[in-house]
Amino acid sequence: MAAVVLAGGKGTRMKSQHHKVLHAVAGKPMLWHVLVALRAAGISVERTVVVVGDGAAEVQAAVEGLFGAGVYRFALQERQLGTGHATLQAQGAVPGDAPTVIVAYGDTPLLRPETIRGLLAQHQAAGAQVTLATGHLDDPRGYGRVIRAHGAPPHGGEVQAIVEERDASANERGLREINSGFCAFSGPWLWSRLPRVRPAPNGEIYLTALPALALAEGTGAATLVLDDVFEAVGINTRVQLAEAEAILRRRITHRLMDGGVTLQDPATCYVDAGVEVGMDSVILANTHVSGSTTVGRDCLLGPNAIIRNSTIDDRSRVTASMLDGAVLATDVSVGPFAHLRPGTRCGRGSSVGTGSELNRSVLGPGSKMQHFGYLGDATVGAGANLGAGMITCNFDGQDKHPTGVGEGAFVGSGTLLVAPVTVGREALTGAGAVVTRDVPDGAKVVGVPARQIGWRGERGAAGGPSAAVEREPGASDAAGAADTVEADA
Ligand code: UD1
Ligand code: MG
Repeated sequence: MAAVVLAGGKGTRMKSQHHKVLHAVAGKPMLWHVLVALRAAGISVERTVVVVGDGAAEVQAAVEGLFGAGVYRFALQERQLGTGHATLQAQGAVPGDAPTVIVAYGDTPLLRPETIRGLLAQHQAAGAQVTLATGHLDDPRGYGRVIRAHGAPPHGGEVQAIVEERDASANERGLREINSGFCAFSGPWLWSRLPRVRPAPNGEIYLTALPALALAEGTGAATLVLDDVFEAVGINTRVQLAEAEAILRRRITHRLMDGGVTLQDPATCYVDAGVEVGMDSVILANTHVSGSTTVGRDCLLGPNAIIRNSTIDDRSRVTASMLDGAVLATDVSVGPFAHLRPGTRCGRGSSVGTGSELNRSVLGPGSKMQHFGYLGDATVGAGANLGAGMITCNFDGQDKHPTGVGEGAFVGSGTLLVAPVTVGREALTGAGAVVTRDVPDGAKVVGVPARQIGWRGERGAAGGPSAAVEREPGASDAAGAADTVEADA
């Protein structure tokens, strides 16, 4: 078996500068859905050829971006001379020994693997040279009509021809059975007959001319009549794109629920194709989960969460927050109103609370950052407590610099860590400290700029190792504040 996916046409009805097949449905380009369905139906990627033409570079780059370079083969249709012409361009790239060749259109994101297998089964059972997927539409406008012979079988009902709307008579336009465009051929028959197809009045070589040719040869065309032909017809307009989006999202939410995920309100649960969610996870209203995200078991997402390209391990919760390229270990709590940006990793049992932002930063296991903080280019060890409003000043106007916070450190409220800087293990910074120099393990620093006044755990400001540290007027007040913060913790 082999497959040819046509994606050469312009798709002018989308009114877009971008290629039609690259418009997204459920977060993935239409063409992605077609290629994934073909693969799931058992047609190997090495035997699947994508015909590109208009916008060829954009389409090829998108496919390679999604699946990797060299995975799919491409054939170039230099001029868009019709679907038959486009198919013929793929001949050189399709394995010559393929007895069956499926032709699908790149703009059919709803096509399901079951339907592909159904078409192949029908094609085999009928022993036909060509088998078409057709169906009935109340409003068949714009589609090719299936013309059948009158009378009883064997000849009554037989497909006589496909007539394109633009070439159809008024009578033919009244027919409601349409050609979906999705079809299967005997490979040798396809490659020998296609070059014989004469151009239609508009100069195009129609793939849909082949059923009439099969009839003339006496073999005829078989059909698979679909209950819901919308699945297999192409998207041509933005309105149809939105309809396809609604159908695909419904399929995804049903698949999730069948897999043991609770959706509080499926209608406002926007989960992209390709996202995995583990059993017993709960997704609350108005939650978007997109891209390459995977979610473990027993997680709680939402309400109002936006999660992109992130990995969330078991039992973690994300409330009213935005995650983009973040990795959460087990039992992590995020939100409300947190923003985790690419490169964020939150260790087991850590928590990020109200109004906090993390960017290219690691929060160690069990560490807490509960209120209004910013971590940029920071690495925080396990069990650290980052006080309300603590901020890494990681950008000096020109360059970004790293910040380290050691295991078990206590960063007081409103501390500014001016990078590059490190706060040692078990060290403590007082409220409002502006830390411009590294803080030794276990040290207590306060003030602006922060100075060491002692060691964590010591009561009072004077005495001990900190007696040697130079003091400024008022520093003892700040030290008092630091003690208060620690006591509150
Ligand atoms: C086609 C069918 C029509 C069917 C309808 C279903 C033909 C002649 N007509 O019409 O019977 O009812 O689909 O949606 O086949 N393409 C190329 N190169 C070209 C022309 C098209 O690669 O030169 C690709 C397009 O990118 C698209 C597909 O073929 O993916 C179908 O082309 P489109 O222009 O949408 O055909 P329809 O007019 O919809
Ligand atoms: Mg079309």
